[in-house]
Amino acid sequence: AENMLWGGRFTQGLDPLMVKYNESLPYDRIFWKQDISGSIAFARANLKGGILSEHEFAEIQRGFKEIAEEWESNSFVVKANDEDIHTANERRLGEIIGKDIGGKLHTGRSRNEQVSTDMRLWLREELRKLESYLCDLIKVTIARAENEIDYIMPGYTHLQKAQPVRWSHWLLSHAASFASELERLRFVIKRVNRSPLGCGALAGNPFKIDRVGMAKELGFEGLLYNSMNAVADRDFVLETMQWGSSLMVKISRWAEDLIIYSSLEFSFVRLADAYSTGSSLMPQKKNADSLELLRGKSGRAFGQMAGLLCTIKGLPTTYNKDLQESVEPMLDHIKTVGDSIQIATGVLSTMTVNADKMYAALAPEMLATEFADYLVRKGVPFREGHHVSGRVVALAEEKGVPMDKLTFEQLKGIDARFDEDVQSCLDYHRAVELKDATGGTSKAAVLEQVGVLKELLGQA
Ligand code: ARG
Repeated sequence: AENMLWGGRFTQGLDPLMVKYNESLPYDRIFWKQDISGSIAFARANLKGGILSEHEFAEIQRGFKEIAEEWESNSFVVKANDEDIHTANERRLGEIIGKDIGGKLHTGRSRNEQVSTDMRLWLREELRKLESYLCDLIKVTIARAENEIDYIMPGYTHLQKAQPVRWSHWLLSHAASFASELERLRFVIKRVNRSPLGCGALAGNPFKIDRVGMAKELGFEGLLYNSMNAVADRDFVLETMQWGSSLMVKISRWAEDLIIYSSLEFSFVRLADAYSTGSSLMPQKKNADSLELLRGKSGRAFGQMAGLLCTIKGLPTTYNKDLQESVEPMLDHIKTVGDSIQIATGVLSTMTVNADKMYAALAPEMLATEFADYLVRKGVPFREGHHVSGRVVALAEEKGVPMDKLTFEQLKGIDARFDEDVQSCLDYHRAVELKDATGGTSKAAVLEQVGVLKELLGQA
């Protein structure tokens, strides 16, 4: 251990398994670029503060340029004592520019602020990518909703046929729930994008470091204002995972709807081959594996969130090595959520929709409410209209015919206030168009939703 970067006070080596157990380089090497930009910003601040000379700063920059090229070209040679990306880069810097100058880089700095800086810089870029994937998913949904606005389908509650709705209305119901995650993501990015740099190990920096200048150089939108908190918390990872979990719940429910709608019994939609797989035994099978994985991977995303909450909950304040356990879940979470959004977009943009099957699945009983509403328009209290309409349903059941096969005389027999125009209640299109208040399923109300979403996407 005396060979380690921190080895001054140690006399004996680490147990070999402990070396492996402790090291994070196999996965935190992904932050090499962020670690270098953070180091250069830190060195520049120490130049301004008089800790480094112009020459020393230039040497540090030169060293890092070379190190960056090594990482870029996959030729960086990892040494046995490289614990993590921070120690690896600093060790290499010393080799390139010499320890006299290389050894000054870490003046006033701690890996505790470094790791949080690197993670935030990395996460910020990834979340921006996820934001654009999510925008794409919403855009594809909107495009389908506009093109397929005339399709009418059964709307369900309790998975029972409830009232007719536009297919576009179903599509946009999910777009609306994705959109609220888009808004939330934009807030999360702002909180991720704050700088811990200049907080030291826990107590702060003693060399008059310009924290604002460093934050600006690195593109941070603000600072973390308490150095102990800055090295202690992984709020930005937790918040990301809470957001990701929430989005995955929504993607999972969307996938569940489509699994049902793509079953042979429904046949409302048909997945493209690109997002389906077959059975090794049953030749006829075409399974919606993409959708099932979207549903399945949501569980994995929630697990990562719950796991990190447990890791952090009992920690004494400031940095503890447990926090290193936030890195891998974060990396996997981002990959899982990012891939899932893109798969969902692929499924949605390539599937075919069978408008005839949707229409054929409508049942006259879904118009029972229309009879009640009809009577309401004639001045009958709704509760009474509901009761009368219930008797229409009951009579159809008793006669063993669908509701639309009852004769006008039979209806009149139930309630004398039914006139000839009661036939209009049996028109699915009319039923849909009557729901014209904002948020409803009429064409105008659906197009209004499209407008709201486009505004959120900045496309209006
Ligand atoms: N690899 C560490 C992590 O990911 C870096 C910080 C280590 N700091 C320390 N004092 N041991 O958390």
